[in-house]
Amino acid sequence: MSIIEKALEKQEVIGIQAPPVGEELDRAGFQDLSEEDRPVEQRVKSPQIKVNVEKLLAQGMLSPDASQGKLAEEYRLIKRPLLLNAFGENRNKINNANLILVTSSLPGEGKTFTAVNLALSIAAERDKTVLLVDADVVKPALSRLFGVENRPGLIELLEHEATFAEVLLRTDIPKLTLLPSGRRHPHATELLASEAMVQLAGDMSRRYPDRVIIFDSPPLLATTQASVLATHVGQVLLVVESESTPQYIVKEAVEMLSSCALVGCVLNKTTQGFGLGYYYYGYKYYYSNE
Ligand SMILES: Nc1ncnc2c1ncn2[C@@H]1O[C@H](COP(=O)(O)OP(=O)(O)OP(=O)(O)O)[C@@H](O)[C@H]1O
Ligand SMILES: [Mg+2]
Repeated sequence: MSIIEKALEKQEVIGIQAPPVGEELDRAGFQDLSEEDRPVEQRVKSPQIKVNVEKLLAQGMLSPDASQGKLAEEYRLIKRPLLLNAFGENRNKINNANLILVTSSLPGEGKTFTAVNLALSIAAERDKTVLLVDADVVKPALSRLFGVENRPGLIELLEHEATFAEVLLRTDIPKLTLLPSGRRHPHATELLASEAMVQLAGDMSRRYPDRVIIFDSPPLLATTQASVLATHVGQVLLVVESESTPQYIVKEAVEMLSSCALVGCVLNKTTQGFGLGYYYYGYKYYYSNE
């Protein structure tokens, strides 16, 4: 049994609350979320950016067509259960099943690397679109990677300073949209824990039921932000750095994710030097009704 399986085995079965049927959405502050609801002439088109593919490739990430090689194959395995949970027959048993938080116990385990590759891999699917959210608001490496660190984003949305259409960035990768972290904020943790974030997460999930929304986040054991975010999403992907993160640390992280119904693990950097060939994949889910 792997370290991850052992750690996850200790995790208690978490209750899953089905979303209330026919619930009216309280969209105060986020009324602009669905531009599709507006007359065509009034729609605000989100700006489009060009993705620097060479920069992604230089970091060992997938190419946007995400079709070739071992890494592409590994991400196929990683995304399959996530997509099944988000869109399969169990999706209604899980709140916000299409919202996926990528996190890890410690810094540098590969969260951003995983979030980006997962987003590229899903965006390469014929019928799926992806919104990649930089929720690491203190260290927005994802926003930097895409050159959008000075744009408004999640923080401005939560502060009701910008509309959804203003902060979303379409990319030249047809099915990939970005939401940068936005400006620095002295009370970022409180904002991510606020009612505004609960509303935003619910709105994102329900208004875009066909879209996968992936959140890159800070490490669980360094700040409370990731565990707070985990309460808003339907699924968590815990990145564990192979042969580096001790078992007790992984256990501690898994315990901090007890609010989330579905927790999966990726064992990252499984080869020495981790330039090539990275992943072994272990995944384990907990359902209240099984
Ligand atoms: N499987 C991998 N193969 C090659 N390089 C990797 C792999 N995983 C991560 N890296 C590299 O390791 C470094 C740290 O990864 P990354 O930035 O994704 O970690 P992180 O968990 O997001 O860190 P932080 O906690 O600082 O946000 C980066 O340079 C990244 O490109
Ligand atoms: Mg990161």
